[in-house]
Amino acid sequence: MSDSKRIPQHVAIIMDGNGRWAELRGRQRYEGHAAGIEPIRASARAAIRHGVGYLTLYAFSTENWGRPAQEVDALMELFCQSVIHETPDMQRQGIRIRTIGDCSRFSDKVQAHLAQAEELTAGGDKLTLTLALNYSSRDEITRAVRKIAARAAAGELAPEQIDEAAVSRALDTAGCPDPDLVIRTSGECRLSNFLLWQASYAELWFPQVLWPDFTEEEFDRALDEYARRDRRFGLVK
Ligand code: FPP
Repeated sequence: MSDSKRIPQHVAIIMDGNGRWAELRGRQRYEGHAAGIEPIRASARAAIRHGVGYLTLYAFSTENWGRPAQEVDALMELFCQSVIHETPDMQRQGIRIRTIGDCSRFSDKVQAHLAQAEELTAGGDKLTLTLALNYSSRDEITRAVRKIAARAAAGELAPEQIDEAAVSRALDTAGCPDPDLVIRTSGECRLSNFLLWQASYAELWFPQVLWPDFTEEEFDRALDEYARRDRRFGLVK
């Protein structure tokens, strides 16, 4: 890899294909989600190795509540177990964990585990690992509009002061750069309500691999592909 290779500052991933991975092996869907933890570790390692500063993972969408209760419960338990188990290692690696999405719908136990992981890793300066939980872009934008409207109604903000920067500041991702590269595994070519505002100029990459099979080498391949893309941001080159 040459020193001049273009590296994205922020990579966002839609971790798709856990259910199919499990079904292909005659296993329960939740086993596919459990098998999706190692690829998270691998992606974080690869991101740090490349100097990617931000990694955002779509872990639970606002629509995922509609899945069978057994699967939702298993996911909640997996969130709790993995944040407890992974936090010490994340601290050692300089990973800061944060969340986006409306976490208030989660149980007190899930919220407490997430808050603890965020607090313990707050000093991490190598990688900001953001978990999108009970997240969807439309919900995030709706909540942001509500916040802005409340400030306008209180006389703190005039309508002409509402510009793109003000909207960005009201989103859950405030302070985080926009993603340069969005990856969705399993060959599906959709954004499914993920970072729609923030990914306006992102490069998109849709590898066939199912999320539990995603490795550091797959992450490297995505970054190679990104380095080949010609980003113009609506300009002429
Ligand atoms: C999509 O695959 C995946 C999910 C809805 C859950 C992803 C969650 C994890 C990998 C665990 C994350 C854990 C932490 C702590 C962040 P799918 O079930 O839709 O797959 P399918 O399309 O093959 O059915």
